[in-house]
Amino acid sequence: MRQRARFRATPKDGVAWVTGASAGIGRAVAIELARRGYRVAVTARRESELAALAAEYKNIFGFPGDIGERAPMAALVHEIEAAHGPIALAFLNAGVYFPAEAESFTAALAWRTFEVNVGGTLNCLDPLLAAMERRGRGQIAINASLAGYGGIPGSAAYGAAKAALIAMAEALKLTHDSTGVSFQIVNPGFVRTDMTAYATHFHMPFLMEAEQAARIICDGFERTGFEIAFPRRLAYAFKAARLLPYALFFPLMARATRRARPRRRVN
Ligand SMILES: NC(=O)c1ccc[n+]([C@@H]2O[C@H](COP(=O)([O-])OP(=O)(O)OC[C@H]3O[C@@H](n4cnc5c(N)ncnc54)[C@H](OP(=O)(O)O)[C@@H]3O)[C@@H](O)[C@H]2O)c1
Repeated sequence: MRQRARFRATPKDGVAWVTGASAGIGRAVAIELARRGYRVAVTARRESELAALAAEYKNIFGFPGDIGERAPMAALVHEIEAAHGPIALAFLNAGVYFPAEAESFTAALAWRTFEVNVGGTLNCLDPLLAAMERRGRGQIAINASLAGYGGIPGSAAYGAAKAALIAMAEALKLTHDSTGVSFQIVNPGFVRTDMTAYATHFHMPFLMEAEQAARIICDGFERTGFEIAFPRRLAYAFKAARLLPYALFFPLMARATRRARPRRRVN
């Protein structure tokens, strides 16, 4: 299969779309993209947060929605493109972590995690990819996590959902390299947001602010690499740990995450 040069969007190519932009990393990335000259369409369920963002930044526009709903997400993509032109760059970032997962594993919680983190991303991806394929160009970045590299205590569902996103992005990259639609995976370490505020059971090395994470992510959008993983030291440590045999990997991970063990079962 012939490989095309990887498409990297610029503000001249069209609008940027960020999901999960009412808070945390998504909000910071939307602001950073607006600062870099993009018109930015922002999506999340909390309309008031999106409206406040749009009121503050003249090139940010709110498109509220629940990524868990397939047909409304398809309609939303059309709505954004009808109002602002082609989506040139999409950051599929919306996601959830339920702190109760650290206490006990239940299928109900795991399904909810998968529904939003995997199903919701798919609901956005489907209409977006169709539109970009028609145009023969576009850039899509999916936010996974370093937790998707391998097993971490208290993150069975969250980590598995993020691993699914990583594998999916790798496959889509290989499939679409010849079409002009480019894929990237974003694997952050620990970022101070509402999500990590509740994750008190975790020791969070190299915890960084959302604004710093947003600058790293947006720099990564402009580069040709597939993966945007940070902070580098933590990403390399996780990657190196994955190369170890299980006899070494498990004791190492158990020691590194001592404070992340489930303490009691809650229903
Ligand atoms: N913080 C970290 O340390 C860290 C590390 C690695 C990866 N990540 C990933 O980064 C992404 C953003 O996380 P964050 O830390 O910024 O968390 P956050 O502050 O809790 O933000 C999550 C965002 O996702 C949106 N969202 C959740 N469910 C949604 C749904 N069903 N439909 C539409 N939007 C939805 C939320 O908006 P509404 O509630 O308004 O819908 C919010 O804007 C997630 O995918 C997370 O897994 C975070």
